[in-house]
Amino acid sequence: MNKSRSEPSSSGPTLSTPRVAIAIMAAGKGTRLKSQLPKVLHEVGGKPLLAHVIAAATRVVPPQDVFAIIGHEADRVRSAVAHTGVNFVLQSEQRGTGHALMVAREALSPYDHLIDLSGDAPQITPQTIAQLLNFHLDEQAAMTLLSADLDHPTGYGRVLRKSPRSAEVQGIVEEKSASAAQKRIREINAGFYVFAVPQLFSHIEKLSTANPHAEYYLTDMAAVLRQARQRVVVWKTENSAEVLGANTRAELSLIDSQIRMRKCQQLMAEGIAIFYPATCVIDNDVSIAPDTIIEPFVQILGNSRIGASCRIRSYSVIRDSEIGDGVLIRNGCILDGARVERNAILGPYSHLRSGSNIGEGAHVGNFVETKKIKLGKGSKANHLTYLGDAEIGAGVNIGAGTITCNYDGVHKHTTVIEDGVFIGSDSTLVAPVRVGKGAYVAAASCITENVPEDALAIGRAQQVVKEGWAGRKRATRTTEMRKQ
Ligand code: UD1
Ligand code: CA
Repeated sequence: MNKSRSEPSSSGPTLSTPRVAIAIMAAGKGTRLKSQLPKVLHEVGGKPLLAHVIAAATRVVPPQDVFAIIGHEADRVRSAVAHTGVNFVLQSEQRGTGHALMVAREALSPYDHLIDLSGDAPQITPQTIAQLLNFHLDEQAAMTLLSADLDHPTGYGRVLRKSPRSAEVQGIVEEKSASAAQKRIREINAGFYVFAVPQLFSHIEKLSTANPHAEYYLTDMAAVLRQARQRVVVWKTENSAEVLGANTRAELSLIDSQIRMRKCQQLMAEGIAIFYPATCVIDNDVSIAPDTIIEPFVQILGNSRIGASCRIRSYSVIRDSEIGDGVLIRNGCILDGARVERNAILGPYSHLRSGSNIGEGAHVGNFVETKKIKLGKGSKANHLTYLGDAEIGAGVNIGAGTITCNYDGVHKHTTVIEDGVFIGSDSTLVAPVRVGKGAYVAAASCITENVPEDALAIGRAQQVVKEGWAGRKRATRTTEMRKQ
């Protein structure tokens, strides 16, 4: 697949610039998650596991030198991360981590060194990948593996060093095949490796499936290369959190909370106040400027960008939205694909759907829903209102209970409300319709025709007053009751 792209990006082999590829193993099903969704598409910190690993990889080598090995639900995985520009290699049958590299042989052979990452361990950093590569190059090793000491190593492969102080490795033993003594080893195989490509592929056929899973274990390459008198070394990271793999729902949840807590700490270090970080859900790609205050139980998701000196009150959920400086978002607002300019005030309980553009200093209040609108500078829609497909100018007052009737059952139509208009409470504006600059719409009007500039439109039944009617009715009822 993608053969046209499998040429290494650097011009040719020189001593100083080895050609380096990164493979990301992402073909597995993730049986332990008990899910329809392939494992590497499960999200932590607001994006798929694989997207995190690709982001780290593409900071070490360019995307054209990154190869994601996909298999289970390959099309779904490919379309989720295709925008990153990496290559894909198909492992149609998943016969183990060693097999994953066997199928990628053709794509990877043109390179000198291969960094092999696990698609289910999302906290790996570009710094650690680069350090692992440098160690491998310095050691002139055939295989270098990343390890970490874990307090709870159960489930991971264990590193068998030649001697406690030596970087040289005898082999890796998987949990299922480990002896009681080996299970006590706390140094685990992180599942990240660097290989010298010629050595890898001249010995990979020696892997066997003689193990409890009947799979080709990539971990066995350590012993295979050792037996072929090749150098196999280990480099241990002090930051054990970055090697954690997400194999179960509990591990996904743990990794997600670690990523989000780190995000909150980073934001706090940058000058953002977060009252109760453990309750806030802030995605990795969110940006927030200093002096903004985030109250407890706030969610800020996707590609949201929040300005400086804003206050976001509890229970608001903001997704893919852009918020200017000094905006006050009161409790319980929901924003999705909205843009809010500086000093605007929202909520409590406003619902801004996609394409809502709220102007500088504008107010959108209680139980107001907006969709695909522009609300001009200083305009106000404070209570119980639906504004959809509308262009609303500056200094407009939208009374309580106003509704833009934008949908005729087939098509959507636009309502235009020009600068300085006053819309009385409980009005319905049947689109397409235009209310001209400075006009007034009387309360409870149903506006079906354009209103000219500076006019008053009244679109409601005229009030009829029957003097003395109630008194007369009471009198007749009293006479009837006496007769009974
Ligand atoms: C693997 C290691 C283990 C290590 C652990 C670290 C092996 C045999 N064991 O175990 O020593 O401690 O990672 O997290 O490698 N995959 C494929 N194709 C396959 C099989 C798996 O692409 O045929 C992918 C998976 O999608 C996953 C990655 O390889 O992203 C690792 O596979 P997984 O089954 O999670 O291995 P572990 O049991 O965690
Ligand atoms: Ca794993």
